[in-house]
Amino acid sequence: MTTKPNNLLTTKPSPLTTMVVFLILCILGFYAFHFPHTPPHSNNTSTFQNLFLSSSSNSTISSYLRTLTMHPHLAGTKPNSDTANFVLNHFISLNLKTHTTSYNVLLSYPLHSSLSMHFNDGSSSNLGLTEPGSSGSDMVHAYHAYSPSGSVYAKAVFVNYGRDRDYRAVGVSIKGCIVIVRKGGGLGRNTVVEKAEENGAVAVLVYNDENDTWRNGFERGHVMKGVGDPLSPGWGSVEGSEKLSLDDNEVLKRFPKIPSMPLSAHVADAVLSSLGVTPLPLEWRTTLRAKGINHVGPGPTMLNFTYLGEKKMATIQNVFAVIKGSEEPDRHVLLGNHRDAWTYGAVDPSSGTAALLDIARRYSILLHSGWKPRRTIVLCSWDAEEFGMIGSTEWVEQNLINLGSKAVAYLNVDCAVQGPGFFVGSTPQLDSLILEITKKVKDPDSKGVSVYASWAAANGGNNIQRLGRVDSDFAPFVQHAGVPSIDIYYGKDFPVYHTAFDSYNWMAEYADPFFQRHVAVTGIWGLLALRLADDSILPFNYLSYANELRLYRDKLSNMLDHKMSLHPLTTSIQEFACAAKEVDDELKELKLVETSGQFVDMKRRAMNDRLMLAEKGFLDGDGLKGKQWFKHLVFGPPNDAEKLDFFPGIADSMTRSTGTSERERLAEIQREIWRVTRAIQRATFALRGEFT
Ligand SMILES: *[C@@H]1O[C@H](CO)[C@@H](O)[C@H](O)[C@H]1NC(C)=O
Ligand SMILES: *[C@@H]1O[C@H](CO)[C@@H](O)[C@H](O)[C@H]1NC(C)=O
Ligand SMILES: *[C@@H]1O[C@H](CO)[C@@H](O)[C@H](O)[C@H]1NC(C)=O
Ligand SMILES: *[C@@H]1O[C@H](CO)[C@@H](O)[C@H](O)[C@H]1NC(C)=O
Repeated sequence: MTTKPNNLLTTKPSPLTTMVVFLILCILGFYAFHFPHTPPHSNNTSTFQNLFLSSSSNSTISSYLRTLTMHPHLAGTKPNSDTANFVLNHFISLNLKTHTTSYNVLLSYPLHSSLSMHFNDGSSSNLGLTEPGSSGSDMVHAYHAYSPSGSVYAKAVFVNYGRDRDYRAVGVSIKGCIVIVRKGGGLGRNTVVEKAEENGAVAVLVYNDENDTWRNGFERGHVMKGVGDPLSPGWGSVEGSEKLSLDDNEVLKRFPKIPSMPLSAHVADAVLSSLGVTPLPLEWRTTLRAKGINHVGPGPTMLNFTYLGEKKMATIQNVFAVIKGSEEPDRHVLLGNHRDAWTYGAVDPSSGTAALLDIARRYSILLHSGWKPRRTIVLCSWDAEEFGMIGSTEWVEQNLINLGSKAVAYLNVDCAVQGPGFFVGSTPQLDSLILEITKKVKDPDSKGVSVYASWAAANGGNNIQRLGRVDSDFAPFVQHAGVPSIDIYYGKDFPVYHTAFDSYNWMAEYADPFFQRHVAVTGIWGLLALRLADDSILPFNYLSYANELRLYRDKLSNMLDHKMSLHPLTTSIQEFACAAKEVDDELKELKLVETSGQFVDMKRRAMNDRLMLAEKGFLDGDGLKGKQWFKHLVFGPPNDAEKLDFFPGIADSMTRSTGTSERERLAEIQREIWRVTRAIQRATFALRGEFT
């Protein structure tokens, strides 16, 4: 990674060009002096949106990506602080105001790992644990961050996706065994390890069986519970702040107790095809890619597995560029992407970083043409997302109050391009803005069609996901701070995820040969921010929030015992829907007022505050039970996402059945329903903006 200021578009002008440019500037200067109003209405926001769209350049984005992916850039390592400098210098070269925030946090790196198979006849074989072509580079070996060190010699058992039902289906005790799990059952990596631990396994090996071509890849990842620096749970890990000690219970409970590590499908197949004893359940066999796997064990193959790692304090850096708002500088629109990668990280996350850099370039063109955003825009480049959203979480914790009162929206892009097809998630008041914006951006794969049209055609409707997942930097913004948020990407489930093969060449060969999908993501991301920063009235619509809540209520009602009363919830949603309707009517009136002036500006601002703050109503100070950091009662991570992917508190009370009587269970569900009811009421009051 180069550390010199790197403006890839700049070439040295010849003296002749300089002369011509000088003359043009003189002429322009003359006109500007004599006709001060000649430039296009400098506050005509749609002019700037068009200029933003027309300034796209796929080759520029591809060159950013090439530079970002020259070296593996894992958080806490030198090559990653080089990428921080690259991003910073790019912003500086565009004359943007910049700053960085550093945190000292607990990361985790591998020291040694080995795996061998031992057979009944006394023979054994060592299994290779590196990807072809990765040795000799400065790439960190495949591992699970925050896995404890350990050495175990035990029988292997295959437990499919490692879900509860898989442990029931396997039909043998796995106590004292090493379990082999394949990815794809909808469980997070740390949950896979946790469930193995609960079932008495002594170690876990996880592989990805989803693609025939990339069977040599090892999928890295962390296995820590929760998000953010484990030594500063709930507060920013800045210089001089409190740090828990490594043996504090709060810290220990976030790490698994048994060692784990990723395997390539190739290595896993070798182990699995040697197993005997219990036949493989039929429904597992039909979805396994490898042939010749007929048994799940335990054994007779013994595995000797050793993992040695270290947990280590490291400095991480978030890099920011700030474009100050001209009329409402204290209202902020945030665009964020993480920068750290497990390997070269072309898809994850450098495609998003390249998009962020290109947005900076294009915004600077707008600034040169006289654009003055109404609100402040902040471009954020996060560090250590791969270790549990650490960079963004520390920053959100540190800035909680300012974010809660001054952040209009957070727009996240992680893996900008993984393949074909547009995907988006959002908090529902932003749905209609997303629909509007995707109509303005060209589909990268078919001529004459908008992203909106092809997205609708591909899914039989414009499906917008919700942000209750904990898999990227929107999580702290939505689930801890209650900031309205969006997450966008092209393609999904790419086969080289977190492996050594996630490189520039893979991107250029498979995911985005012409970098036009990058152009589309960048266009949507940048336009969303322009609207949120420039519209005099925030483009929020709470009617879709009300519809979404109604939908959740109906789904819940179908799942619940008839003894439960959903009446309070139903009433609170009706009230919320009424408030949303009233706001919608007020907005229609406000939009008719074309004048400006102190009085109407104050009126708009008061309305905008209601629109901005309503999301905060869904937060609850006590948070989710057992996961207090997660404050949002509509969107957050349930313990079992298969049941319900909304109202996480209610979902948990429904699955937390074991060990309590039926009466206690129902009482707990009812209490969680009341909590959500009150949250919706708080949001309603905020939306109405009046004291009761
Ligand atoms: C703003 O610009 C757009 C096209 O760029 C034009 O259609 C519109 O009339 C302009 N509005 C004003 C108020 O100048
Ligand atoms: C495997 O990955 C390649 C791209 O690298 C893709 O073309 C192919 O469709 C994938 N196969 C499956 C079964 O997903
Ligand atoms: C298992 O592997 C470790 C580390 O390579 C080695 O020290 C140990 O002797 C091995 N144990 C057995 C039983 O093979
Ligand atoms: C940019 O797009 C054009 C048109 O699709 C294509 O010919 C060119 O190869 C692309 N450039 C890069 C670097 O992919």
